[in-house]
Amino acid sequence: MNILLIGSGGREHALAWSLAKSPVLNELFVAPGNAGIEQFAKCVALDPTDHRSIVEFCRLHDIHFVVVGPEAPLVDGLADSIEHADIRVFGPSAAAAQLEGSKGFTKDMCARANVPTAAYGRFDNAEAAKAYVREQGAPIVVKADGLAAGKGVIMAMTEQEALDAVDSCFDGAFGDAGAEVVVEEFLVGEEASFFVLSDGVHALPLATAQDHKRAFDGDEGPNTGGMGAYSPAPVMTREMEERVMKEIIHPTIADMKAQGHPFKGVFYAGLMITKGGPKLIEYNVRFGDPECQVLMMRLKTDLLPILLGCAEGTLDQVDAEWYKDPAITVVMASKGYPGSYEKLTEIKGLEEAAADPDVEIFHAGTVSAEDKLLSNGGRVLNITARAPTVSEARDKAYAAIEKIDWPEGFYRQDIGWRAVEREKQG
Ligand code: AMP
Ligand code: GLY
Repeated sequence: MNILLIGSGGREHALAWSLAKSPVLNELFVAPGNAGIEQFAKCVALDPTDHRSIVEFCRLHDIHFVVVGPEAPLVDGLADSIEHADIRVFGPSAAAAQLEGSKGFTKDMCARANVPTAAYGRFDNAEAAKAYVREQGAPIVVKADGLAAGKGVIMAMTEQEALDAVDSCFDGAFGDAGAEVVVEEFLVGEEASFFVLSDGVHALPLATAQDHKRAFDGDEGPNTGGMGAYSPAPVMTREMEERVMKEIIHPTIADMKAQGHPFKGVFYAGLMITKGGPKLIEYNVRFGDPECQVLMMRLKTDLLPILLGCAEGTLDQVDAEWYKDPAITVVMASKGYPGSYEKLTEIKGLEEAAADPDVEIFHAGTVSAEDKLLSNGGRVLNITARAPTVSEARDKAYAAIEKIDWPEGFYRQDIGWRAVEREKQG
């Protein structure tokens, strides 16, 4: 089977790495891919917003299955266009991708389906939003409704901060994403991400992970796309997983189907495990990046039939098996990220760094030029390791990083600290 994978990040390198192991795979194309992916798959320059040229490419290269990595093309309806062309696709329709594309849509779904989440109000004008803020008091959370590259969430510790956040949303700080605003209760607890596949009817729970969103050690500095992750998330016990399936996941899948836009693909619940139980913070309609890297490192079974099961409505006939050992990934980013940074700086030493069989280095923003490997983005490498404990996996990842020669890069030194603390306490 020929496959086209859309995307260019560490997530897509990890997905490509997993798909490439499938005995069912014939040829793997990745658009646009990166310098790591091109070592084993065919990278092609296709514009994900040009649906017609993607469909034409599929016809020309006999593509049977398209896997869409990132959220923007999904919200933009790429999966719909591919499905209309009678080609199988992994990823939700634009209507179902609203679970990530509109925070208000998700909050209303929660209200209908009785999914536990933070109390909220949904507003299309500043005055009403401010009145709600004054009524509720601080701390409180103000969110731009639409996709804002992870930046549209303001955790206001004071009422004034919240009022200012409302103004800045409606003044266009997040562009169209801020035309509507959700104001919600500030939840306290430990966060975890819970990944689930669905074919629109059935659900297959995958695994859990914890991300590190802030740029610097000790969870300081600006929010990023994620600076490292590990799986599983120890806070998600088996009982908690069962509770999340029953209270959050199954009601969501049933409601999406009832509303006429069944969810097909992978989604993950961003959860807050509060004293009162699990609450949904948000949904994402794709694999997380870098969470995907640790999931793929732990997946034992062939990824391809599982993803196909989502597209074909046969998810009840497949199963996913996992290595019990945890996996961790540490992101190396360009100095300056998530702000401005230099591009095309040289990276050396990757081969030696990846020599440990328990270590995989997934590329994100990299490009090759005349036998050299150059940086080409904010997040650049994902140093990923699997071992019997998080502490050992972490040591392996950091030992690999020591061998990488890239003066223009930086990384967090404390990825996995929560899990490591837990292990120390036994
Ligand atoms: P989101 O983009 O909705 O995932 O929000 C980004 C981050 O903001 C989350 O991962 C949480 O750490 C935090 N956050 C969002 N909503 C809340 C909330 N209601 N209470 C506490 N923290 C929140
Ligand atoms: N790591 C968070 C995300 O993929 O959105």
